[in-house]
Amino acid sequence: MEKNKKNFYVSTPIYYPNDNLHIGHAYTTVLADAINRFKKLDGYNTFFTTGSDEHGKKIFDKSKEKGINTLEFVTNIVENFKKLWKLLDIKYDHFIRTTDKEHKEFVKNIFIKLKDKNYIYKDNYEGWYCKTDESFFTTSQLKDNKCPICNKNVEIVKEESFFLCVSKFKEYINNLLIKEKILIPNHRIKELINNFVNNLQDLSITRTSFDWGIKINNEHVIYVWFDALLNYISTINYGHNKKINSNDVWSRDSNFEILQIVGKEITRFHAIYWPIILEMLDLKKPKILAHGWIISDDGEKMSKSIGNIINPIELIKKYGSDSLRFYLINNIVTSEDGKYSESLLVKDINGILVNKFSNLITRTIVMIEKYNNLIVPENKKNNKYEKKINELFEKRFMNYKKFMNEYKFSNASNEIILYIENINKYIDETMPWKVSNNKEEIDRILNTLIKHIWNLSIMFSPIIPESTKKIEFLLSKKIISFNQINYDFKNKIIKKIDFLFKRIK
Ligand code: MSP
Repeated sequence: MEKNKKNFYVSTPIYYPNDNLHIGHAYTTVLADAINRFKKLDGYNTFFTTGSDEHGKKIFDKSKEKGINTLEFVTNIVENFKKLWKLLDIKYDHFIRTTDKEHKEFVKNIFIKLKDKNYIYKDNYEGWYCKTDESFFTTSQLKDNKCPICNKNVEIVKEESFFLCVSKFKEYINNLLIKEKILIPNHRIKELINNFVNNLQDLSITRTSFDWGIKINNEHVIYVWFDALLNYISTINYGHNKKINSNDVWSRDSNFEILQIVGKEITRFHAIYWPIILEMLDLKKPKILAHGWIISDDGEKMSKSIGNIINPIELIKKYGSDSLRFYLINNIVTSEDGKYSESLLVKDINGILVNKFSNLITRTIVMIEKYNNLIVPENKKNNKYEKKINELFEKRFMNYKKFMNEYKFSNASNEIILYIENINKYIDETMPWKVSNNKEEIDRILNTLIKHIWNLSIMFSPIIPESTKKIEFLLSKKIISFNQINYDFKNKIIKKIDFLFKRIK
């Protein structure tokens, strides 16, 4: 790790490999990938982790239903996760599986450590359990006798269990949520406090009625959420990972910005139990970004059990990964639920990516070829139109950075669209085709256009990396950092490329 650099650590939840992933899962991961790429451009040393949450009753029962050995069952699905992330251009540093030996050892050690610190005791658990969410509930937390999260039937659980003393930390967690604002957006804090913190009870962290999990003795396996949350520390500790170690990230005095992106229904685990576990271990607390759900046109959460899921692999094959990434970032307001429909996706592709963005690039290449044999000319002096577009850029770029840093991804994307419109307007106003005989004039315009296309590509690269790679090829220059903004391409030869996006009929 480079000591003097700014540091950033980002994680997605680890996904249950009980089935293939849908675009709801893709959403969380695309956000993490985009912010990670953004931070890299902004000069940060970054680490991005994702993975699979492979233990627990749900997975165990599903594999039995299918008559497949549980490890074999999850391994096949995990391979599909990895294929999806590759297709979606997700560049993680580590993919953790909770069945990895390193992770299992780590969790056992933490269990022992917390027991030695007297945070764990043995008792009997009696209460409700939702297998879908792998969550315990008290009777008062149920909604019409069903799981308050997924609305499915819950089962009664009565078994010996080890408990984690979280109830002692009620005041602590209240303070962390209200004063230190570890949960973003703000409006989720109140609902969490009302629903869960006010009635915080010690957490059962072992199960005895099945044995698919990390065993701590002959009877007890670790509760899947306790196991899963610890992935955020263990994922950095793998032997092959030379980049950083978990102390760099998680020690109290660490200089890492830690962002954990989760869906709203799992904030209870990430913004209550997880910070308490970290406090017990004397470690730093992250920022938790809770996003809304992707819902279908008729307002239902996209989920396998409702039967309204959209397979991202099919969408990527049909429309390309950048189109899907762009749609998810641009159209879903991070803090709220957001709709997905294919017609909206096509509308975005045709209306924005083709009409505004891809056409701008194609128009510019055609002009540079026609007026200057594919060589970028020199701009000797700006006139009023260049001053105007430069000023507009400064404003858009500042807003874009501000929104990205506040994790307001759709607002950041909107600044990019406005900037594209500004550049298109610059062409309409300067009318290069009318001044093609005036060398100084046409040179100035072409040079300016290339500069702004380059700036635009840098800003757009966290969202549509495949297309901006093609622009890197066009300009023979790699996008590395925001320090490359306003680079002057004078005298450079540009290469020709095909349309970046094509109209969908
Ligand atoms: N395994 C746990 C997480 C453990 S992290 C220590 C889990 N897995 S999950 O596969 O069910 O879901 C993972 C993520 O996908 C969650 O953040 C969840 O919110 C997200 N999504 C699942 N369906 C979704 C939508 N329809 N829309 C948006 N995100 C959704 O929970």
